Formats: sequence, C-alpha cells, structure tokens
Amino acid sequence: MAVRYDSIVPWGRTFEEYVDMFDLEERDLEKSILGCGDGPACFNAAMHQKGKKAVSIDPIYKFTDEEIQRRIDETYLKVMQQTRENQEKFVWHNIKSVEELGEIRMSAMKAFLMDYNAGKKEERYLFAELPSLPFQDKQFDLALSSHFLFLYTDHLSLGFHIQSIDEMLRVADEIRIFPLVDMNANRSCYVDSVITRYRSLGFSAHEIQVDYEFQKGGNKMLRIYKNDNK
Ligand SMILES: C[S@@+](CC[C@H](N)C(=O)[O-])C[C@H]1O[C@@H](n2cnc3c(N)ncnc32)[C@H](O)[C@@H]1O
Repeated sequence: MAVRYDSIVPWGRTFEEYVDMFDLEERDLEKSILGCGDGPACFNAAMHQKGKKAVSIDPIYKFTDEEIQRRIDETYLKVMQQTRENQEKFVWHNIKSVEELGEIRMSAMKAFLMDYNAGKKEERYLFAELPSLPFQDKQFDLALSSHFLFLYTDHLSLGFHIQSIDEMLRVADEIRIFPLVDMNANRSCYVDSVITRYRSLGFSAHEIQVDYEFQKGGNKMLRIYKNDNK
C-alpha cells in the first residue's frame, strides 16, 4: 500500500536528527541557520538553548500553540497508523518500533511547543511559506529543508521546487535539503533536474550520504552553494 497523507502534516524531528540528516558539524552550528518548513521540530528550541542562532519559517506558525497542539493530536494517530501499515518502508535500526517513533516525535513536538511563544516574540518562529521568504539577500549562512522539498514530490511541482531553492539561495550562502526521496521512499524525480540546473548556473550541487536513514534509501542530502563561497 502506498503512503498517502491527506496533506502536509505537522510532524517534528529532534535536534539530533537534524544534526545527522544535515551532517551538521560544530562549525556549522556556529552559523546563522534558517529552517524552512521546520514545523513542530525542536531544532530551533535546542539551538536557542545552546545559545546558537536559528530562525524557522513555516505556515503553521500563523496558529497559536493551542491550535498547533490540536492539529498534532488530530494528525498523530493517523500518521502512526500509516507508519504501522507501511513498516517495511522504514529502517527500524535506531528507532526500534512504531511506539518508540511516536514517543520520540511527541517529545520533540512538546519541546517545540514549550519554546514556541517565547520564540515567536523573539522572531525565531516566523509565519512564511516557500517559495517566498521575508528576508534580505544573504541574511543567513545556511538554509535547511527537512522533510518538505522532494518528500512531497506528488504534491509540489518541479517549478515550485526551483522557485523555492532559488529563494533559499537568495537568502543564504548554502542550502541543504533532506531527504531526496518522496513519501513512498522512491528517489524524487526532481533531484536530477535540480542538480543539473544549479550546476549549470555555477553552483556546487552534490548529493551527500549521511548517517541517518529512517525511510529506506533516504540517507542522502543535497548540498548547494555558490562555488566562490567555499
Ligand atoms: C513533515 S513536516 C516536517 C517538519 C520538520 N522540518 C521536520 O523534519 O521535523 C513538513 C512541514 O512543511 C510545512 N510546510 C507546508 N507548506 C510549506 C511551505 N509552502 N513552505 C514551507 N513549509 C511548508 C508544514 O507546515 C510542515 O510543518
């Protein structure tokens, strides 16, 4: 059975997962980082606790903490059920069971919710939607997309991906996207076109294998930066 979620769901990963997915080294964590579509992940909260700089944008940040909590509660059982029905599409190595997955995700989302109101006041959580970002050119060192671009290949066009990546590259020196597979753990049909386009525009665009794999085959991220930046 294919994985089909009704829409793009609020579902949040941990700081450690972000570090592994994006191969973030200590020196990367010192950079100013923009998370695009961070939703209820707790990367921003953990960065803030460590005294580091992260800003997150997501359309769900137009909602209050109570509204987001309600949406998480509504989505949770559905996502867990779909994961249970599609267990063969995931690698149960670090996370051992659907129940453990639920506990990890819920604790990440709880940490996000605890930080959300303060982070909104400090403008670390901003309501915005790709493909348009409310930032100045090169305001950030690094922009990340976790589980949004490429994952929703069935819902979002190649044109949307290109516009979004252009915009992320406008506001940041470098971007990293994870994963390169879609909801059904198939390599997104957009990845090669994206790599070809940015290489032809003079960017370095490389797939990098990382120490993180939960969706089977989902262990690569795409790193794009202007060749003269590095
Ligand atoms: C599956 S969640 C991933 C959350 C987080 N990045 C993580 O990996 O844990 C996808 C997120 O994309 C957000 N999203 C939906 N449309 C978006 C858009 N146009 N621009 C940016 N984010 C969007 C959703 O609100 C949701 O929070």
